[in-house]
Amino acid sequence: MKLTAKESIAWIQSRRSIYPKTFDKSEKASKEQIVELLEAARWAPSHKITQPWRFVVFADKGLEPLVKFQIEMLQMSNAASEIVEMKSAKLKLKAEQSSAIIAIIMNRDELKRVPEWEEMCAVACAVQNIALHASSLGLGGYWSTGSFTNHDKMRSYLGLKEQDVHLGWYYLGVSKNDREVKRSRLEVEDFAEFRLG
Ligand SMILES: Cc1cc2nc3c(=O)[nH]c(=O)nc-3n(C[C@H](O)[C@H](O)[C@H](O)COP(=O)(O)O)c2cc1C
Repeated sequence: MKLTAKESIAWIQSRRSIYPKTFDKSEKASKEQIVELLEAARWAPSHKITQPWRFVVFADKGLEPLVKFQIEMLQMSNAASEIVEMKSAKLKLKAEQSSAIIAIIMNRDELKRVPEWEEMCAVACAVQNIALHASSLGLGGYWSTGSFTNHDKMRSYLGLKEQDVHLGWYYLGVSKNDREVKRSRLEVEDFAEFRLG
């Protein structure tokens, strides 16, 4: 199967980050759909095919303990009580609005055959595959790097080994009109230089 050049560029151009407040609240992504997103992740490139991506999917009743843990971490922080309250309410609401919160993890190759930064790039490719495939399924989401990303306590909650890195969260939900959202970009000539001899 091959997309036309027009279809392919249009699909890439119209991918958008979709935030929980705009998810369709009347529906949730199914476990099968989430597995299909992970299938898309599976085909990302990685140097020496190390496949360093790992995901922990919090969905259904699994969301509650995650949010509880995030709130406990907030309470243990030095933040003022009003801030803790405000952020806790936001975390709870985002989880209610989402079908799943997926922890994005770089699982370092034990033999360290490639530099760490290459492994992180490969994980980002996997996340982009998820994002591109999500809207084919009527889903949407965004990559969040808040909520105690890679904090020691969060690392241990997620079961990370010393060399692994927690790279954030993919908030996933049902979203049918994601492709109508517009966000600007630089023009090609603003970020690319051609040296043609
Ligand atoms: C590595 C990474 C981290 C991000 N972290 C956040 C975040 O913490 N909070 C947020 O609102 N958006 C976050 N985003 C989403 C960006 O804000 C978003 O991609 C950008 O605004 C462009 O919008 P678009 O994805 O719809 O094109 C992140 C995106 C990436 C790739």
